[in-house]
Amino acid sequence: MAFDYSLFHTFLETRQLGREFQHFMNVDSTNAYVKRIARQDVSPSSGLVVVADMQTGGYGQHGRVWESEKGQGLYFTALMPAQSTPLVTLMVGVAVVEALRVLSGSEELGLKWVNDLVLRGQKLGGILVEACHQRWMAIGVGINLREVSEHAGIGLDRLECLSEGAEWRREQVLAEVLNHLERWSDRLAAGETDAIRSHWEAYSVTLGQDVRVESGKGELVGRAIGIDAAGALRLRTRDGQVELVTTGTVRRVDGSYC
Ligand code: BTN
Repeated sequence: MAFDYSLFHTFLETRQLGREFQHFMNVDSTNAYVKRIARQDVSPSSGLVVVADMQTGGYGQHGRVWESEKGQGLYFTALMPAQSTPLVTLMVGVAVVEALRVLSGSEELGLKWVNDLVLRGQKLGGILVEACHQRWMAIGVGINLREVSEHAGIGLDRLECLSEGAEWRREQVLAEVLNHLERWSDRLAAGETDAIRSHWEAYSVTLGQDVRVESGKGELVGRAIGIDAAGALRLRTRDGQVELVTTGTVRRVDGSYC
């Protein structure tokens, strides 16, 4: 479906993000594309946003395949100046959750460490932040949406049922996410790291849970108790020690997703 630029700009409130905008019907990966632009162009446009109807080579954390069928999701990447703080990934999660909460009017959507969007125990989307040549970062977001063709729009399939069958145009969903992303990015740049941590913790479905983390270093089991200043997950193990988890996949001890 064609992307309606004027509708998109109606919803967009940002000063920077989305001012340069590219829509593809098909691309390998919006993250890979934006990284190529950043590599080739001596002065790529900060605020460039690339959205695709489908991706043939979409990928996620740890290089996992990100299924990106047409009509099944919103797939986009924003190019932003690099920020030297490790809290960028958490900041993006906070921004996306807030945008979708505002749209849906529901507070059920949450975050699983490190950055899965979760709704009622299932993954609704994911975030992939990649550094590009030190000066830039590619912020990739994939949200599982379902196209509602009879309305010539797109509906958030799982959020639909939260808000009495409401549907949104994808232009509006994208603009709302970008509006929140720019606001939170400004707050991060202004040093508001405590606000990011406290909002992330408030939206978290991981904290307070007994979890198992598999990382390259082996397995760690404990209760998730918080986020440290560098965005690491703080785990209290059975012997009372607090361990910091910086990488790996978190699962509930009872085997459920989160
Ligand atoms: C994850 O949960 O592992 C992160 C998934 C990120 C997927 C998005 S879709 C848009 C952008 N392009 C990609 O190839 N990946 C990200």
